[in-house]
Amino acid sequence: MKHETIEKNLPLMVVMIVIALSWAGLAEIVPLFFDKNTQQPAEGLKPLTALQVEGRDIYMREGCAVCHTQMVRPFRAETERYGPPSTSGEHVYEHPFLWGSKRTGPDLARVGGRYSDEWHRAHLYNPRDVVPESVMPSYPWLFEDKVDGRDTPNKLKALRMVGVPYTDEDIEGAKDAVDGVTEIEALVAYLQQLGTVVTKR
Ligand code: HEC
Repeated sequence: MKHETIEKNLPLMVVMIVIALSWAGLAEIVPLFFDKNTQQPAEGLKPLTALQVEGRDIYMREGCAVCHTQMVRPFRAETERYGPPSTSGEHVYEHPFLWGSKRTGPDLARVGGRYSDEWHRAHLYNPRDVVPESVMPSYPWLFEDKVDGRDTPNKLKALRMVGVPYTDEDIEGAKDAVDGVTEIEALVAYLQQLGTVVTKR
């Protein structure tokens, strides 16, 4: 069939595009369902604690992922700066993924343990206090607002439904684990574990 015939016949072109895209999609996506590597938890991977789950939700709510990726690509410039490349195994308990797509700030996939809790608190209260040229926003309200633990058990339950291995005790204790805690504590607890399954091996 001549190219011109397809280009001048819209319905035919639509059908051909759908076939081409479906085939390409299937060829890329389907093998991943059967590749054990993409579904097997990394060695030593543990589900986030209740406090870290709340911290992660604050990370999502505040839009940190808009400026920060959590994905070290296997290029020298990245591994020298951030650490070992990301693997699928370290992300199997994450729903949704927070890989991000734009780096206004640095990648955070390996930031756990790099700074002290005090550094993170000072930085999140006002980034300019520790990094004078920073364009990152300040988050002073995190120091006043408390985590509302009413939904924490349900959050863990929902994660369990999609395959995160929380025990009944984890879920029962979830509300108490975050009781009276400020949002900054939860967020820092979340940040401090990022990448540690790989970097503390
Ligand atoms: C407008 C973009 C922007 C947003 C939104 C943002 N950041 Fe940043 N972040 C930056 C920039 C730029 C830097 C580098 C300068 C600095 O360290 O402050 C940075 C640095 C950091 C660092 C230090 C990383 C390192 O390796 O030195 C951490 C940790 C961090 N941000 C966490 C967060 C968290 C948590 C949030 C959400 C509460 C957030 N950021 C929101 C832009 C942003």
